[in-house]
Amino acid sequence: MPANKKKIRIKSPKNKNTIFGLPAKSYTDIDFWEKECDTVLSNGWLFVGFVHEFNKVGDAQPIFIAGKPILLIKNENSEITAFHNVCSHRCLKLVNEKKNIGKLIRCPYHSWSYDLQGNLKAAPHIGGTNNHKPKGFNFKEHGLKQIRIHIWHDWIFINLNGKAKKFKEYAKPLFSKFKDLDFNKLKYTATLDFGKINTNWKFLIENFIEPYHVQFVHKTTTNQPLRDHYTIVDGVCYGSGVDVKEEDSKNSKALSVSSKYLSLFPNFIIGTYYPNQVGVYLNVPINPNTSSQKRIIYTIGDKEMPKEEIDITKKIWWNVHKEDHEICERLQEGRSSPASNEGGLLSPYWEDGVKAFQKLIIQETKS
Ligand SMILES: [Fe+2]
Repeated sequence: MPANKKKIRIKSPKNKNTIFGLPAKSYTDIDFWEKECDTVLSNGWLFVGFVHEFNKVGDAQPIFIAGKPILLIKNENSEITAFHNVCSHRCLKLVNEKKNIGKLIRCPYHSWSYDLQGNLKAAPHIGGTNNHKPKGFNFKEHGLKQIRIHIWHDWIFINLNGKAKKFKEYAKPLFSKFKDLDFNKLKYTATLDFGKINTNWKFLIENFIEPYHVQFVHKTTTNQPLRDHYTIVDGVCYGSGVDVKEEDSKNSKALSVSSKYLSLFPNFIIGTYYPNQVGVYLNVPINPNTSSQKRIIYTIGDKEMPKEEIDITKKIWWNVHKEDHEICERLQEGRSSPASNEGGLLSPYWEDGVKAFQKLIIQETKS
């Protein structure tokens, strides 16, 4: 094995209170990123979008995730399906922007067309002028390549290599944390789209999992004392909870209610905020140094959230995320220092979820 292809490992601790994080290369190295795309982001259920963004038949959304162009589309059966977003002819990226494409997906290059089920319907003049169906060319063999998909409430997951356990099995540890919550009563309330962030996707997840930074980074935007927090680690689900002793759900400047912050490996994030709010983030790994993030705010219950309260909630969350993004971008910048080669250190108490997440990364990339 060439020296520069040395395997990335977490440094072994000398004692149980000295825990090293992932080495810098796992956030910056292109070979590691490619391996991660083929394993971590392909083996399990990757979170890719929101059902409520698909209203009509033909609504299509191209996404670029895990280094791949993917197309989500609502078909005539009102099902959302996922395809690799490339034409079978010359592999051009088929759909370039979010739009309604009608009944056919038409490649702009040579007008090859597919129906909403991905079947190839036309390949004009393929066999010569006016020869649209040459002998021996089987249209059935050249449809779009479909990707396994699972819809859980408003959330769209795909499994790129088709080998993951059934979603219901995979996500069991997450389901078990929300037995008290009726997801069928969730109502879409607002979207916060943060666009691109100059950080590796893992920093967004790691930052969310641990409650340790909240008292320092979110001094003014949250009021959830560290002493009230606990961590949660259960297989592919980890995060933290906080049972605030003195709740203040009317606080218009800071978040000060009991909450649960959970992530499902690799990139799904959900937070529940007592008494009636849920937030889900879509974290999109784009390349080693770039991710994007979107947060959807939901409410639970029969009462509509008044507009004024929605605006206040959006403002609080916008500020909280911006505080986190600044930290995540600086974490990324820190990885260009030789001092971060060994990965830095983790709190054995507060960052056990980060450790569990990082162990899964190493485990998957070894496979
Ligand atoms: Fe944070």
